Amino acid sequence: MRVVAIDGPAGAGKSTIAQLLAARLGVPYLDTGAMYRAVTFAALRDGIDPRDEEGVAALARATNIELAPGRVTVDGIDVTGEIRTARINSAVSHVAALSAVRSIMRAAQREWVVARGGGVVEGRDIGTVVFPDATLKVYLTARPDVRARRRVAESGGDVDEIARSIAERDRLDSTRSDSPLATADDSLQVDTSDMTIEEVVDELQRLVLEKERSDVGR
Ligand code: DC
Repeated sequence: MRVVAIDGPAGAGKSTIAQLLAARLGVPYLDTGAMYRAVTFAALRDGIDPRDEEGVAALARATNIELAPGRVTVDGIDVTGEIRTARINSAVSHVAALSAVRSIMRAAQREWVVARGGGVVEGRDIGTVVFPDATLKVYLTARPDVRARRRVAESGGDVDEIARSIAERDRLDSTRSDSPLATADDSLQVDTSDMTIEEVVDELQRLVLEKERSDVGR
């Protein structure tokens, strides 16, 4: 099964690069952050505290989250735009820190990819925990100022405010006890600050094919 794991902090270029790479390789793309965002949406919808582990986990089990290309639904409602709002941004790291929720999400992510025979999977713990045997593990980074400017170009807002919100999310994501944002020992680290998207995608495609050739030869 061909699995490419793409991890890294917010604004490093993961989504754009993962989607283009998936199209080139002819495999599906899974945005695992969208799953945590969808659960956060459901918690806020139902008035459940994003830090309430049992409450959010029960909700995660009962909620139907569907990820189709470019579209996320929660219990049949299209929440594609809603899950990218500031309201969700500020609550999602709390939901993503809950172990009981993470284990439900990890199982759903593995099931999604196995059912489709592989994929390019984007998140924070994909190479470290969800798919430790991935064909290729990539950790994308970029300088904080570059990441903030990219987010502003995508969705607008004030650069300083966005930079603060990204920094806070990074802090929560990399200091939580369960599967924090971290590089895997065998991941390839790529700083995208001064690279074009095409350059990154070309390089990753080349590495996947090279890795597969060397795995076959072994
Ligand atoms: O990639 P994103 O910004 O959409 O992620 C949303 C949040 O979910 C962010 O706080 C990190 C968290 N997340 C995670 O903990 N594990 C993943 N595999 C994906 C996202």
